[in-house]
Amino acid sequence: MNGDNREDVAGVEQEQPGNGAPWLLYGAYGFTGRLLAAEAVRRGHRPILAGRDAGRLREWAEVLEKGFQLPEPLRIRAFALDEGPDIRRGLEGVAAVLNAAGPFGKTARPLMEGCLEARAHYLDITGEVPVFETAFELSDQARDRGLIFMPGVGMDVIPTDAAAALVARVLPDALRLELALHSPGRPSAGTLQTIVEGLPDGLRVRRGGRLVRSSPGRKEFRRWVDLGPEEDNGPMAGKLGGRRSVAPFTWGDLATAWRTTGIPDITCYMTTPRRQARTLPVVLPALQALLSISPVRRLARSLVTRGADGPSPEARARGRCRIWGRAEDAGGRAAEVVLEFPEAYRFTAEGGIRALEQLLKQAAARKEGDPLGAGTLTPAGAFGPEWALELPGVRVVREPGLKD
Ligand SMILES: NC(=O)c1ccc[n+]([C@@H]2O[C@H](COP(=O)([O-])OP(=O)(O)OC[C@H]3O[C@@H](n4cnc5c(N)ncnc54)[C@H](OP(=O)(O)O)[C@@H]3O)[C@@H](O)[C@H]2O)c1
Repeated sequence: MNGDNREDVAGVEQEQPGNGAPWLLYGAYGFTGRLLAAEAVRRGHRPILAGRDAGRLREWAEVLEKGFQLPEPLRIRAFALDEGPDIRRGLEGVAAVLNAAGPFGKTARPLMEGCLEARAHYLDITGEVPVFETAFELSDQARDRGLIFMPGVGMDVIPTDAAAALVARVLPDALRLELALHSPGRPSAGTLQTIVEGLPDGLRVRRGGRLVRSSPGRKEFRRWVDLGPEEDNGPMAGKLGGRRSVAPFTWGDLATAWRTTGIPDITCYMTTPRRQARTLPVVLPALQALLSISPVRRLARSLVTRGADGPSPEARARGRCRIWGRAEDAGGRAAEVVLEFPEAYRFTAEGGIRALEQLLKQAAARKEGDPLGAGTLTPAGAFGPEWALELPGVRVVREPGLKD
């Protein structure tokens, strides 16, 4: 305690919907962390707000308390992720951690290991393939402790994982899966920093069940996809649907869709204007080489974040995204689906909190010692794809089915 009655005393119980022990939101004052915190409080949760800056936590807690006219102060815990003992103290007595502090390459492993020690479930909103792979590496340890680890409870991978599961259900012998995301709108500073951090790793695809490097110059990537009927959501939210060119992208689904569907060849794309997609074979390797140099990467991180304040409230309210999924079997039969869902950051806040609620519900219902239902799980693997279809604002644009 530091004289502020908001400072949390570890282990003190509080009322939580669906769960007795408190859960903790790490990175609570970042752009997406703030959206998650507000959505959590709106739904009646009282998470412990955590991050490495006590001042910013206190300030944000006060805003939430005033905005939602909370009778009790929200609790905060300030701790960095560099030292084990700090993390241990930070996670004492919590039932689950929702990590919103990205790039997750630096924050996920210490928090996952902290969760193993504290016996807390772990969720995050990463889209970074190496972070998912770390979570799957730790799966047995989580399972042995009866814990659920679920990275990726944001736009990537909740709806994309559902799309993968839906086409795989139509074509259970599929060997090839493609997912293309159309998410118009302005990214946040944290997302841009994460992209800069990930670029030196280059482009990945999954082939024969293994993650392999690839190059955007390859013929197979000159791809157009049909995202369903066209819609114009105005200047703040952008255009939706239509036939669009895509460029390969290293989405987290390269890790999760493989676990959800078992389909061995997976390629992920994002919609990209044709002219830009054509420059990628030249631009991407050059960027990769430049950003492998640490000082250049640091400079790039600070440059890309200048003025990057993420989507406005209006864009979040009006924006929509689509995901196209296609599975194909050895005989060339193909199944497709198109789903639509709210703007990326809004969806991440709404979907992330509901994923946490669903995880806590399933964890509470799981019989002790049952190896099923614990370990590192994907959203569609754990909850079924229908769960994602029932999230606010999600609709099926093209029913999952065989393509003529
Ligand atoms: N999967 C999805 O669909 C999805 C959707 C939205 C966002 N995201 C991801 O979520 C992440 C956060 O995005 P954002 O827009 O909220 O970014 P942001 O506004 O920059 O916030 C990042 C937060 O993480 C904290 N943080 C960063 N590095 C840290 C470290 N090493 N130790 C402790 N705290 C650290 C920051 O605290 P300090 O200010 O103290 O550094 C801040 O609270 C990004 O990686 C983004 O790509 C994913």
